Amino acid sequence: MKIIVTGGAGFIGCNFVHYMVKRYPGDEIINLDLLTYAGNLESLKPVEGCPNYRFVRGDIADRDFVFSLFEKEKPDVVINFAAESHVDRSITDPEIFVRTNVIGTTTLLDACRKYGIQRYHQVSTDEVYGDLPLDRPDLFFTEETPIHTSSPYSSAKAGADLFVLAYHRTYGLPVSISRCSNNYGPYHFPEKLIPLVISRALNDEEIPVYGTGENVRDWLYVTDHCTAIDLIVRNGREGEVYNIGGHNEKTNLEVVQTVLRALGKPESLIRFVTDRPGHDRRYAMDPTKIETELGWKPQYTFKTGIPVTIQWYLDNKDWWENIVSGAYQSYFETMYGARL
Ligand code: NAD
Ligand code: TYD
Repeated sequence: MKIIVTGGAGFIGCNFVHYMVKRYPGDEIINLDLLTYAGNLESLKPVEGCPNYRFVRGDIADRDFVFSLFEKEKPDVVINFAAESHVDRSITDPEIFVRTNVIGTTTLLDACRKYGIQRYHQVSTDEVYGDLPLDRPDLFFTEETPIHTSSPYSSAKAGADLFVLAYHRTYGLPVSISRCSNNYGPYHFPEKLIPLVISRALNDEEIPVYGTGENVRDWLYVTDHCTAIDLIVRNGREGEVYNIGGHNEKTNLEVVQTVLRALGKPESLIRFVTDRPGHDRRYAMDPTKIETELGWKPQYTFKTGIPVTIQWYLDNKDWWENIVSGAYQSYFETMYGARL
């Protein structure tokens, strides 16, 4: 199979590319990524030079580019990770979220319609369901929970999901959608909570905790997300949505305290700061459908995934120090400039 993975230079996309390139040597993996601030080719060093892997730089919202790529490559499968993904940035500048997350998705869907496809898979998020109250631990998001978004980020992701489902119903496009809870693990950009805490704590810098730190997120180790997507693409039913999560709910304060403890750093580094506007209170997934229908099971709990993640950041200081210093942005020019 020839598989286009979009956003494969980002956090989850690069972990997925590593997994697929190693797991399926007979498949051809084309990584299509624009290399925005969140894309980092250094994250793809483990697969550089693999015969079943290629990188193509481009914008999923650029119709002429996407159509000419599909014309040339005729992919069997498209898996769309590419997105603007940070809620705080979406509050400051919503428009790019509409362009990439919505128009980028419809552009890919139109190319799939024109050139034919075995499966288009949309990587979505639990955030499309909005939030749950903190005092109802009995409530979980199921695939039937209505879409009810809070932030420009989640609204753009929800818009994309609705287009994906509309293209299935209206044009019969073979699509699937996965909605996953918060991920953590290697190659996570240090603007997001867990890598931010690790990188700042290692430098003895203050850790900003929004509001009172009581908001709850449901954390999944990134490779467990990758195996779930692989299963859905291969065995999941067309036109279906699958929730992914491992019942690892923690308050933000618990997450920060756990990381500080593991690093031997004092809690006095914690600084409570003004809350995020519209801050979602609690996310919690019910993954029964993917577990019973496809037999998916996560390998990691929060307790086992966090030490592995911290160790990775300790072993790969160069990777995140280059990001914090901005040096990673010249990597493409250095590596590829002369070849373009
Ligand atoms: P990320 O921000 O780390 O990576 C996004 C990647 O997309 C980057 O490599 C970036 O260069 C690329 N990109 C951005 N705009 C593009 C464009 N116009 N054309 C081509 N490439 C473009 O994001 P992530 O955390 O890896 O998330 C990947 C996907 O998973 C997103 O769709 C996100 O909504 C979804 N998701 C993320 C989480 C999470 O916890 N991070 C949880 C559930 C779902
Ligand atoms: P984040 O990693 O941005 O993911 P999301 O908002 O998509 O869930 O944030 C996770 C939680 O941590 C969220 O409730 C906001 C909170 N947070 C902080 O308290 N401080 C921070 O510096 C950041 C980035 C997030």
